[in-house]
Amino acid sequence: RHCSICFNTQNEEKRTLELGGHVGFDSLPDQLVSKSVTQGFCFNILCVGETGIGKSTLMNTLFNTTFETEEGNHYRNDVHIRARTYDLQESNVNLKLTIVDTVGFGDQINREESYKPIIDYIDTQFENYLQEELKIKRSLFNYLDTRIHICLYFITPNGHSLKSLDLITMKKLDSKVNIIPIIAKADTVSKSELHKFKIKIMSELVSNGVQIYQFPTEDEAVSEINASMNAHIPFAVVGSVEEVKVGNKFMRARLYPWGSVQVENENHCDFLKLREMLLRVNMEDLREQTHTRHYELYRRCKLEEMGFRDTDPDSQPFSLQEMYEAKRREFLGELQRKEEEMRQMFVNKVKETEAELKDKERELHERFEQLKRRHMEEKRSLEEKRRDLEEEMNAFNRRKVAAETLMGQALQGCSQQPFKKDKDKKK
Ligand code: GTP
Ligand code: MG
Repeated sequence: RHCSICFNTQNEEKRTLELGGHVGFDSLPDQLVSKSVTQGFCFNILCVGETGIGKSTLMNTLFNTTFETEEGNHYRNDVHIRARTYDLQESNVNLKLTIVDTVGFGDQINREESYKPIIDYIDTQFENYLQEELKIKRSLFNYLDTRIHICLYFITPNGHSLKSLDLITMKKLDSKVNIIPIIAKADTVSKSELHKFKIKIMSELVSNGVQIYQFPTEDEAVSEINASMNAHIPFAVVGSVEEVKVGNKFMRARLYPWGSVQVENENHCDFLKLREMLLRVNMEDLREQTHTRHYELYRRCKLEEMGFRDTDPDSQPFSLQEMYEAKRREFLGELQRKEEEMRQMFVNKVKETEAELKDKERELHERFEQLKRRHMEEKRSLEEKRRDLEEEMNAFNRRKVAAETLMGQALQGCSQQPFKKDKDKKK
């Protein structure tokens, strides 16, 4: 706020003065150029397209070198992102080029999630940059920026239309990266078909709301060429690393039994247009758009997610300290609430367990009482049986004694009778 007041005063007092002689600040643009050249540049290309569509060949053709000859693995059950960085030099300009390949894209039967690893990769690069920016000791000056500056989307040259995989992937990517769609292996589509194919692709992109990168037309120096090139999108490209002798010149082309397709011949394909637009005219704009549009959007969403807010110009000035304190209080409050919730949960759990234990105890007690009662009943019935048996035994004993007595008497009776007879006989 204080600064803006100073600016206003300065603006009010601003006067244009003539210099008496050379002072030197007109070399500022040269100073910038020299600093940038010393520092070097980086450029990161993402190639999205199905296996064997010609991604590696086109990269080799674009940079007129051989990056790699390795084929992608066709048997993966997911899309794998492979990034490789190369140091290139042209004149005195150093370029750190990262080529990111989508290995296995389009190979799976279920392609619903094919776009996810690509999105994750792009987001991770944004996140790494944001983390570097948020560090106390930042080193953005020599930071190896891996944010994707351009996504070349390789369209299969089927001559009809885009596939749903193309539309879904481009739609998911368009808010995160500059997309240039290209028709790959364009030598397989005839001239008349190609025209219709391009119109169909563009109308499908428009009707599905896919935002592709538009070459900027604000800068007068390039507005004309960029405006005319915007009308040629999607570029129909042919790639080849084969050097073929045409006339008395060697050029890159693809040879067929009926003739050759010259990669750098504008009548044969749009390869030159792509190279011009991508590398010579708009490379800096692609880098800038990545930083000011796509990264900015990611950064804004992330910071808002973290709770940061910008204040509008009429309200109180924004204080990071206050925001931090507020956020800390909010966090502590939340922590306390969670702690209380956990404590309550614990108490409830203990109560529940206690009640359960009491129920179990009662149940056990009841069972014990029941067993005790049964035991008593059994004891009582046994006691009764014992008493009955004892009575029976006593009765038996009494009967036995009585019988013995009777038998004794009977025996006595018998032994006295012959003696009496003898006595009678004597009489
Ligand atoms: P992966 O890395 O396996 O996913 O394949 P890729 O997309 O990198 O394809 P690559 O560049 O390896 O090319 C695959 C085949 O297509 C090779 O035989 C190339 O010669 C051929 N090819 C590449 N570009 C073109 C082209 O523009 N036209 C035609 N007709 N064939 C091409
Ligand atoms: Mg490849």
